[in-house]
Amino acid sequence: MIRVEPTGAVLGAAILDVDLSKPMRDDDFRIILRALGDHGVLRFPNQDLNPGDVSRFSGLFGEIQGNPIGKADAKREFPEVGILSNLKENGQYIGSPDAGQDWHTDMTYRDVTGFVNVLYGVRIPMRDGKPLGGTEFSNMHMVYDALPADIKTRLDGAIGIHDFTKFWDHMRNDRGSQRPALTEEQRRMRPPVPHPIFLTHPITGRKVLYCNPGFTDRIEGMPRPESDELLAYLFEFQLRDQFRYTNHWTEKDLLMWDNLGTIHRAIADYGPDEIRLIRRCQVMATKIFDPGFARLAQAA
Ligand code: SIN
Repeated sequence: MIRVEPTGAVLGAAILDVDLSKPMRDDDFRIILRALGDHGVLRFPNQDLNPGDVSRFSGLFGEIQGNPIGKADAKREFPEVGILSNLKENGQYIGSPDAGQDWHTDMTYRDVTGFVNVLYGVRIPMRDGKPLGGTEFSNMHMVYDALPADIKTRLDGAIGIHDFTKFWDHMRNDRGSQRPALTEEQRRMRPPVPHPIFLTHPITGRKVLYCNPGFTDRIEGMPRPESDELLAYLFEFQLRDQFRYTNHWTEKDLLMWDNLGTIHRAIADYGPDEIRLIRRCQVMATKIFDPGFARLAQAA
């Protein structure tokens, strides 16, 4: 029988006694969906999974986003399963070496936004017996609850504009990323998109703050200086220590998180010879806003 063991921190639970390489039982799926809403970040330890297993499990939650700015790599059997790694073969990185290494929420730059990320730890760097390259989160249910009443009133019904190029350019300009500059065609593929600043979470029915420093560029209809000031306030508020939780990886962990109720970053605390290799599916919110699908969690 599947078990949910909360970390006791502001986010996180371990999901035990389930084998993700096997077909998922309906009852187990409901329990996992419910736990995603309640705990935000779920760790399934000691899973033996190939890329096909990661893809099949991820696909239960919605459509998997492939390469957001290019064609799928037709040479790979499961191109929808991305590789995050600083490992090189023949002098070339085998995947993205610095994906997600600052605060953001995946896929808010798309009109159909992101629901979950599913990551599988193949190689985790260790130093002095401790794992490096953790993933850090902040809890957007708690943040919304803690926001001052005047901010909630002022931003009631406000729309944030999210821009893919903001994070990409920030990584290149401010973080020394070697990723290539976006081409004009890639920029055209990803025009800015609107989403509400406050979202009702489809599983919990509670409000969350839905903006992030990575992609949220401005508040629609507001003069730039006022919008910049308000967003700077929200970005500082949402990263206060009391809302934060770090997941420390173990190899063979499958980690999934709810992108609607959390924001996150990958911690870049390891060197070029300390190899990290993660497989990742980014799952879009193609199912979770369907009331029938979200109700599955209520039945758990
Ligand atoms: C991501 O932002 O999806 C990557 C997180 C990580 O590598 O820990």
